[in-house]
Amino acid sequence: MNSVAAYDAYSPLLYDLFHKKILLRRRAMSQLSLKKADSVLDVGCGTGLMFSRLMGSIGTRGKLTAVDASSTMIGAAREKVVLEKWKNVVLINGDSAALSFKGEPFDAALSFLSLSCLDDHMSTITTVMDSLKPGGRFVIVDGKPFSISLLNALMPLLRSSASWDATKDLMGDIRKKYGSNIAYEKTYSLGSDFIMVLKK
Ligand SMILES: C[S@@+](CC[C@H](N)C(=O)[O-])C[C@H]1O[C@@H](n2cnc3c(N)ncnc32)[C@H](O)[C@@H]1O
Repeated sequence: MNSVAAYDAYSPLLYDLFHKKILLRRRAMSQLSLKKADSVLDVGCGTGLMFSRLMGSIGTRGKLTAVDASSTMIGAAREKVVLEKWKNVVLINGDSAALSFKGEPFDAALSFLSLSCLDDHMSTITTVMDSLKPGGRFVIVDGKPFSISLLNALMPLLRSSASWDATKDLMGDIRKKYGSNIAYEKTYSLGSDFIMVLKK
């Protein structure tokens, strides 16, 4: 089953229950450095677990654009938008690698645990970087194998829920193409999570 099919079959309720990751989400927000009225992109937004934080930062004059390829996940995100009566959110059900946002550049973009699920993560990273305003920040939060290799035996249990691809070297791929854009990088959780910030 590919990543999108796996998320289509996933219960949004269970997703929200098991992916709170409050500390990591707070760290991502602090790296985004959003201001009121900013325009922000959430790539692979899932059920919209970042939306209330993002909307709280950009306010009613800002704009949130959120993309997800899974109709189940974006359906749950849409329910959150309707419930909160947010008017300045655009939801796109599509493949982030195939989109172009050049007409409307973003102040910032976020990918929270989604790049490692994508078949073609570099196309999405390139699209996002091309869509940022000069000086805009792309905050990437994702998983990687533990720094202590013995712990990696636990990975099938910890990341069994969907489609995490342990063979990907996201950080290495990003460094190769966007090394000179890296404004911040740090690993967390015994090296099994990382945050990388690319500045355009
Ligand atoms: C682990 S979830 C992360 C969800 C969300 N960012 C969060 O904060 O919880 C990964 C998401 O990436 C989405 N995804 C997978 N392939 C995609 C693609 N090609 N384009 C857009 N989204 C995709 C999945 O549908 C899923 O919702």
